[in-house]
Amino acid sequence: MDQAENLRIMMQKKDFVLPHKLPRLISITSGKGGVGKTNIVVNLALALAKLGQKVLILDADMGLANVNILLGLVCPYNIEHLLSREKKIEDILVTGPGGINILPASSGFLEMGRLPESQQLFLLNELEKILAAVDFLLIDTAAGISANVVYFNLTAEETIIVITPEATSLADAYALIKILFTEHRKNHFTILVNAARNSQEAEGVYQKIKKVVHHFLGEPTLEYLGFIPFDSRIGEAVRQQRAVLDLFPQTRCSRYFLEVARLIKEKKTTALAAKRKVLFRKQGLFLSLGEKEMGGEN
Ligand SMILES: Nc1ncnc2c1ncn2[C@@H]1O[C@H](COP(=O)(O)OP(=O)(O)OP(=O)(O)O)[C@@H](O)[C@H]1O
Ligand SMILES: [Mg+2]
Repeated sequence: MDQAENLRIMMQKKDFVLPHKLPRLISITSGKGGVGKTNIVVNLALALAKLGQKVLILDADMGLANVNILLGLVCPYNIEHLLSREKKIEDILVTGPGGINILPASSGFLEMGRLPESQQLFLLNELEKILAAVDFLLIDTAAGISANVVYFNLTAEETIIVITPEATSLADAYALIKILFTEHRKNHFTILVNAARNSQEAEGVYQKIKKVVHHFLGEPTLEYLGFIPFDSRIGEAVRQQRAVLDLFPQTRCSRYFLEVARLIKEKKTTALAAKRKVLFRKQGLFLSLGEKEMGGEN
């Protein structure tokens, strides 16, 4: 019996109940490293919280636990402690500014598809406890085109690709889009330009990636979410291990974070609502199934 079949059987059992409400699942990703993903995740989370939304960040960058470092928080436990029953889900969750929550993943996360059914069911039920109370689940991925990054980007129904005005950032973003599209049929991407000097520069970056994607790949559709300006206050906030929106709410980039969060919140989700069941299966999949199973669904 394959993993998908296992999950279907699990879902039919009475001991697993579909949550009534599921969060919007958004991955924030990039081809090139250091383009500002983690800062964007943290500040968008805070901005969405200011707009009255309940936000959970999944820190899926296995290399370093970046999210908590940026917020000056200690995350002593992760999903592995939950699985080993050493800790409960409420023990591994960490609360940050504005009431945002952080769920630290673990390096063994991708192996979880091979867990026995009882463990998968346990995890799904634990997650269900918190997902029902969350409006947005933001996934902070590592940079690049590793299996790990691909995996989380296929899990998310919405993927925000962060690009800076540097040519290398654009080239690496294209490489990531190419893999997700040609190998996994993901065909819609949202572009957020970071560290631009002004809107003209940011729109120029968007037009370039759009042109390249259209020319070489044809089908994928790109959507422009806007930009976050270069702002030295971000560096200052990083040094102080605080979110810039928290530390300098009036600085230029903070206003843009709020504006982008507003656009994300207001985005029509009618089509997504129709895919609720599929989405849930995907959310199950990210704990239960291998990457291959998810190909072709995006
Ligand atoms: N809009 C901005 N203006 C000025 N500096 C910025 C801006 N965005 C990010 N930075 C700086 O860029 C650096 C990298 O940011 P961040 O750690 O968020 O990137 P990342 O994409 O998550 O990196 P990694 O790929 O290593 O996870 C930070 O030190 C931050 O100060
Ligand atoms: Mg990061």
